[in-house]
Amino acid sequence: MRGVLEFTYLTLLLIWTVICRTEPEAKLLMVTVASNATDGYHRFMRSARIYGYNVETLGMNQPWAGGDMNSAGGGYKINLLKRFMEKYKDDSKTLVLFTDSYDVIITASSKSVIKKFHQTKSRILFTAERFCWPDTTLSNQYPPVMGSSKYLNSGGFLGDGKSIYEMLTVHDVADTDDDQLYYTKLFLDADMRNDLGINLDYENEIFQALYGSEDDVKVRFREDDAYILNVEHNTEPALIHGNGLSKETLNMLGNYLARSWTPVKGCMKCQEDVIDLTKLDTLPAVCMGIFIEKPTPFLTEFFERITQQDYPKDRIHLFIHNTEEYHRNHVTNFTNNVAGYASVASKEPTDVLSEAEARNQAAQETITHDCDFHLSLDSEAMLTESKTIGLLVQLNRTVVAPMLVRPGFLWSNFWGALSDEGFYARSEDYGEILDYTKRGIWNVPYIRNAYMIRSDVIKNHFVPFVEQGVADVDITWCKNMREQGRLMYLSNLQYYGHLVNSESFDITLTKPEFYQLVNNKLDWEYRYIHQDYNTVKQPDTIVEQPCTDVYWFPLVTPAYATDLIAIMEGYGKWSNGKNDDARLQNGYENVPTRDIHMKQVGLERQWLLFLKDYVRPIQEKLYTGYYHDPPQAIMNFVVRYKPDEQPALRPHHDSSTYTINIALNTPNVDYEGGGCRFVRYNCSVVETRLGWTLIHPGRLTHFHEGLPVTKGTRYIMISFVDP
Ligand SMILES: *[C@@H]1O[C@H](CO)[C@@H](O)[C@H](O)[C@H]1NC(C)=O
Ligand SMILES: *[C@@H]1O[C@H](CO)[C@@H](O)[C@H](O)[C@H]1NC(C)=O
Ligand SMILES: *[C@@H]1O[C@H](CO)[C@@H](O)[C@H](O)[C@H]1NC(C)=O
Ligand SMILES: *[C@@H]1O[C@H](CO)[C@@H](O)[C@H](O)[C@H]1NC(C)=O
Repeated sequence: MRGVLEFTYLTLLLIWTVICRTEPEAKLLMVTVASNATDGYHRFMRSARIYGYNVETLGMNQPWAGGDMNSAGGGYKINLLKRFMEKYKDDSKTLVLFTDSYDVIITASSKSVIKKFHQTKSRILFTAERFCWPDTTLSNQYPPVMGSSKYLNSGGFLGDGKSIYEMLTVHDVADTDDDQLYYTKLFLDADMRNDLGINLDYENEIFQALYGSEDDVKVRFREDDAYILNVEHNTEPALIHGNGLSKETLNMLGNYLARSWTPVKGCMKCQEDVIDLTKLDTLPAVCMGIFIEKPTPFLTEFFERITQQDYPKDRIHLFIHNTEEYHRNHVTNFTNNVAGYASVASKEPTDVLSEAEARNQAAQETITHDCDFHLSLDSEAMLTESKTIGLLVQLNRTVVAPMLVRPGFLWSNFWGALSDEGFYARSEDYGEILDYTKRGIWNVPYIRNAYMIRSDVIKNHFVPFVEQGVADVDITWCKNMREQGRLMYLSNLQYYGHLVNSESFDITLTKPEFYQLVNNKLDWEYRYIHQDYNTVKQPDTIVEQPCTDVYWFPLVTPAYATDLIAIMEGYGKWSNGKNDDARLQNGYENVPTRDIHMKQVGLERQWLLFLKDYVRPIQEKLYTGYYHDPPQAIMNFVVRYKPDEQPALRPHHDSSTYTINIALNTPNVDYEGGGCRFVRYNCSVVETRLGWTLIHPGRLTHFHEGLPVTKGTRYIMISFVDP
């Protein structure tokens, strides 16, 4: 008996399995209306492709007849759909999923959508959203529900062909009537609702309208995909809709969804559409716009980096817009030495071209010169990576900015999110993008300073730059781009360079870059720190020792020396070489020289930082066990020796633990004689080297003198450290 029962049980199980296996898979057809293949449309189609949907697009490239979608409208969508659905009017097997596309991303397969749909036991299921729209007075007619999304949204609905056709043909709609209102009225009519079997997806099983629900959605990851978790209902919706004012939220989510980025796989879409430059005989032509709209430090280096770009110059057209008299020479110096570029056009301050006009002209050059890409660069964009142009071209994106950051600051050339007022807001992932924890190509609401635009974006409905009130031209441009549904990207796939900080650049100073150690350390180092300095810093590099316990190493560049001399001579108030010295606290200098203190020319703060960051590490290496951080120094000055003024200095001790003595010019070139003699060791350093410093103990053992200069002028930079 028992055996028979078991047998029957197994048979039933087998039959049940076979039935389930052979049940024909329900078909799902996705239908959307789009008149324009916008960036959002492409994003939608990509996601549909990834999850294997069959999409029918209605109305493409036909004039939009549905009225202004910023207010009510959209009856046109109903009419297009109605016509299309005629062939399904008796088909209750085919499921039809109607959805908007510009602001929708799909995140799950049709199989899972079908399964969830059947579980809702609806004939037609609509998106539920938080706001009652377009007729808010209807809100009290809605059935009461527990969740926060109570109202019908027509941006996404799903049902069998027959039911949907029935719903569409209840009564006529004009193209400019509101589609959402049409469906809402059917739903609010209880009889109609029951007859048509309409439900709202209150728990976001399938549809997620984002507006007002932004805080309920979290991005979660599997190994090779991201999905949305609705934390209010603990569901995983399959269609994410950036309705209302939630477009930016959708854009941000789109950086992860639909196999775009996961922590395990990184950027999964970055390889899509890229151009393999190695396969091209001729590289794409790039029209470059360079914008100098304000005084900017290190512009010489900026141009140098452009010259060093590893991209064929004959494929680059240059357009320079300079509004600053101060930079006229820098530009001329560059344009006088630009052999090889396909073309060069330059607008000077006297051309009186506004920033917006200049940016538009530069973009239009893309058409004039038949360029494939337009690269826009502001004078703050320091492209230290010489492959940047090639790397950006290769990405082949519509609009993409290479990520540039002010070194050591959170300031960059993009915003991760927008505030309610449309200005900067910190996105959750801003820090991780900035520090390359997350690498990829990110859709962001605002970019500036450097970006590449593909020529088709300029040829087709270019969004022009405009001057509008006090807003920056780029802020207005990005806003207009967003409003036109154009997506902008930021790439941090590589390191491309950094942003120069021009905020406190005071061009009334002599050699203003010299004062930029604090604000623009990286560029300052590049210009002013000796190229061999880093080698000296290595623990195993032996440092020259010309006299006992006197060390000698390369510290600063010739530019440092000439600039510092220029600053001092420009200031011109050399001390008189007398013992009375009002600059000192006690008013008395025991061993006076002709000098100017760093403090007098506003450089004391910079000098102390210089001691801390560049001198102290070497001191610690040379004189083991002495740590004093930060180093203190009150006496920091440039000394001038010349035969008819003060040629030499008698033997003395310094009031320092150690002394820094940098040669600012060259013996037997700029002067004759000179040098430093350490009396106790009868040892002199005379063949001093430009930019090299001596470092020696200040007292007791290193009694020393300045040897006489017999011709010309000798300059040294002296600092008494830790007095
Ligand atoms: C597509 O969009 C652009 C810009 O928004 C607009 O100028 C153009 O008329 C649209 N094309 C169609 C067919 O609607
Ligand atoms: C660049 O991207 C566009 C659109 O994504 C694509 O049609 C085109 O083929 C790509 N260009 C190259 C050279 O691959
Ligand atoms: C002029 O250009 C040359 C070569 O690029 C560069 O070495 C020099 O520093 C520039 N001078 C100025 C004042 O920019
Ligand atoms: C010091 O050195 C110089 C040259 O190196 C030498 O001529 C002189 O005799 C030395 N003096 C003493 C006191 O050793």
